Amino acid sequence: MTPAELKSREQFLISTLRAATPLLLEGFTLTPGSDAKRNQAIGTSEKSSFKDLVTVYDQRVEHFLVERLQKAFAGETIIGEEASSQNKLQKDDYAKHDLFWILDPIDGTTNYVRAYPFFSSTIALMKKVNGQALPQPVVAATWNPVSGEMFHATKNGGAWLNEQRLQVSKVKNPQQSLVTTGFASARSQSSERPFELFTKITKSTLGVRRDGSAALDLAYVACGRIDAYWEWGLSPWDTAAGALLVEEAGGRLSSHSGSPWDSLSGEILATNGSIHDWMLEQIAE
Ligand code: IPD
Ligand code: CA
Repeated sequence: MTPAELKSREQFLISTLRAATPLLLEGFTLTPGSDAKRNQAIGTSEKSSFKDLVTVYDQRVEHFLVERLQKAFAGETIIGEEASSQNKLQKDDYAKHDLFWILDPIDGTTNYVRAYPFFSSTIALMKKVNGQALPQPVVAATWNPVSGEMFHATKNGGAWLNEQRLQVSKVKNPQQSLVTTGFASARSQSSERPFELFTKITKSTLGVRRDGSAALDLAYVACGRIDAYWEWGLSPWDTAAGALLVEEAGGRLSSHSGSPWDSLSGEILATNGSIHDWMLEQIAE
């Protein structure tokens, strides 16, 4: 795919995500409170546990995005969280495709349920590059409809926030760093490790944020608001777009042991590069 083709798909994602704004904001603003009335209005229900929520708006936004992608790119595979969350993605399924779209209609559903303004809609185009066994993100867009911030990127074409080119932060001293993490629902119930690490890193940095949308956490690393982000137990649609944003903004990605980031492993460490080794040491200890 030529750079011009990647850019044209990036523009398509930008306009498609912008077009989903009325629907995203309809559910967000439907009722002012966070109570039974709101849950009824937005159709909240539990998926795998009481911590894993979905609303009718997750399904409606996914339907909206998938329909537009299908119309524009007939025949291309689309993986959406709500349609595919019942079937756990396996490496074999992933590796079967040379090219596919992956999307999360609402990343930060718990925030959305509570009308807490930190959630996003995120899409990436995945493609096998240079003979790699697994597809990598080559086009990405993550949209925060509340702040009006569109984070977007193409492979080798840079990362952008609206019209501004992005660069990761230059912070080198961990004591001057602001970092973020998240607690995936299944993992947080079965292991103390994420909480121990949260405490340890809180003490040695400016602080640890826990904002609740992995896609925006990664976008924040790309734009330099945050210097590092780590988490376990993620799904590939949470991280696909954000991983490209971080790479294209000059940041570094890896697993928690320092090996190359694998979109299916569920774990990610994304940093400005300068504090990456320090973060790996903290996670390893
Ligand atoms: C969740 C968010 C959250 C992260 C969870 C994800 P969802 O996605 O990205 O920040 O901590 O692991 O599952 O369920 O809101 O799409
Ligand atoms: Ca979601």
